[in-house]
Amino acid sequence: MSIYEFAKSIALLAGERIREELSQELIIETKSNPNDLVTNMDKATEVFLVDRIKETYPDHHIIGEEGHGKDITSADGYLWIIDPIDGTLNFVHQQQNFAISIGIFHNGEKYAGVIYDVMNDKLYHAEAGKGAYLNEEKLPMLKNTALVTSIISMNPNWLTKDRTREMYVPIIRTARSARSYGSAALDFAYVALGIIDSYITLRLHPWDFAGGLIIAEEVGAVVSNQLGEKLDPLHSNSILVANQTLHQELLADYLLPFESHLRLIHSGPFSHR
Ligand code: IPD
Ligand code: CA
Ligand code: CA
Ligand code: CA
Repeated sequence: MSIYEFAKSIALLAGERIREELSQELIIETKSNPNDLVTNMDKATEVFLVDRIKETYPDHHIIGEEGHGKDITSADGYLWIIDPIDGTLNFVHQQQNFAISIGIFHNGEKYAGVIYDVMNDKLYHAEAGKGAYLNEEKLPMLKNTALVTSIISMNPNWLTKDRTREMYVPIIRTARSARSYGSAALDFAYVALGIIDSYITLRLHPWDFAGGLIIAEEVGAVVSNQLGEKLDPLHSNSILVANQTLHQELLADYLLPFESHLRLIHSGPFSHR
């Protein structure tokens, strides 16, 4: 079995375990603030995935949101970047709309991405250079869109903050409409699927975007930070993912006019995980 096939198989197994244990009472803790939750299921799923990878590939490196590989600073060899449950708030409040996300890099180059929408049993996956799939179905390349006919995904919290309102309100005002799904991995998957045209967010960690980056680029999406710069899978960053012409329009007409402001936001602790 290839590493890619193996990654898909452990995402499916981990998802099955989550579905089986969904009726059990969750232990919910808070992390950085009262709305930043983590559950025993997030932690157990990360341990499950890490144990499976280590059993099969003892020399691979693994970074997980819930604690694994926090000291990893090099992308040498195979590097797995895992979010055991992306969309923990949805998981806790809705028991749906969350995903398992895995991005795999080899010597810093993209190798494969897997996003498993657990409750809908939808596996988005891609091996770099070989196209992206939803379950067994190959996804078509994205069609270009203009902002006026586009649906944008953005967390409305960004519109409540002084430092971002000025940049983002004109985007939402011009777009056909906006959505917010509460799982960055699913946002990337939905761009790849073509059911939203762009996902814009000011800060994601490597585990939020590693899988999505690889899948979205396989259907021709442009993935960068909001200054148009390439993402580094080892560092947190802002995100702009969209089909090619929409990415260009958003960058040139809406984001780069705020370049100095954005550079200020990106400096300092922002880019560290
Ligand atoms: C979060 C989700 C959410 C995004 C946050 C992430 P988590 O991940 O992806 O959609 O807006 O920035 O932290 O904590 O649920 O894995
Ligand atoms: Ca989290
Ligand atoms: Ca996440
Ligand atoms: Ca998570």
